[in-house]
Amino acid sequence: MILFFKIVAFLVLTLIVLRLFFIQYFTKKIVEDYLKGESPFIPVKPEFLEQIVETMEIDEKDTVYDLGCGDARMLVSCQNAHPEAKYIGIEKNFVPYFWVKLRLLYLGKSAKIKIIHQDFFKADLSDATAIFLYLIPKQIVRLEEKFERELKPGTKVLAFKYPLQKKEPEKVSGLEGDKIYFYKF
Ligand SMILES: C[S@@+](CC[C@H](N)C(=O)[O-])C[C@H]1O[C@@H](n2cnc3c(N)ncnc32)[C@H](O)[C@@H]1O
Repeated sequence: MILFFKIVAFLVLTLIVLRLFFIQYFTKKIVEDYLKGESPFIPVKPEFLEQIVETMEIDEKDTVYDLGCGDARMLVSCQNAHPEAKYIGIEKNFVPYFWVKLRLLYLGKSAKIKIIHQDFFKADLSDATAIFLYLIPKQIVRLEEKFERELKPGTKVLAFKYPLQKKEPEKVSGLEGDKIYFYKF
């Protein structure tokens, strides 16, 4: 009996230490990324997913990208609602990339959502018909120039929280501070 309690205590302590380690790691990483001018790994809040999926107006011919896909929750929600479209996530940082690969395996979505380990500034986006962004303004400004050069006419772009700088949105929804901006190129 005493041995059982010792094992339980050991497991609980190990979990607490691991949790503290991950909290410390992610807090440090968020600050470092922000100082480098890169969007940190902060996934979109679950309560916005339904509205994002709806606003994307996905159809079966769409190729949907999430640039800086994190744990790919937006792509998973879109794929659940519109399984016939094509889904691609691009993620540069190894921890979220490794995490999303495990997550998709667990969810049985590995074959349905492709994840590319790459810097999205170097990605070829010419086949995109819909793009999702949840990124800091510094990266959005650079991406907007890339979009102007690369995107096919009619490509939909949905930006969460931080809008594009030059282009006027066709639709704006969401709440103050957490808005959803919808554009067509
Ligand atoms: C704010 S999170 C958004 C995650 C996800 N799109 C979502 O909405 O839940 C931004 C993500 O972009 C990734 N990221 C930042 N700069 C990147 C770059 N240049 N190329 C690829 N991914 C990048 C970060 O690692 C992070 O996972």
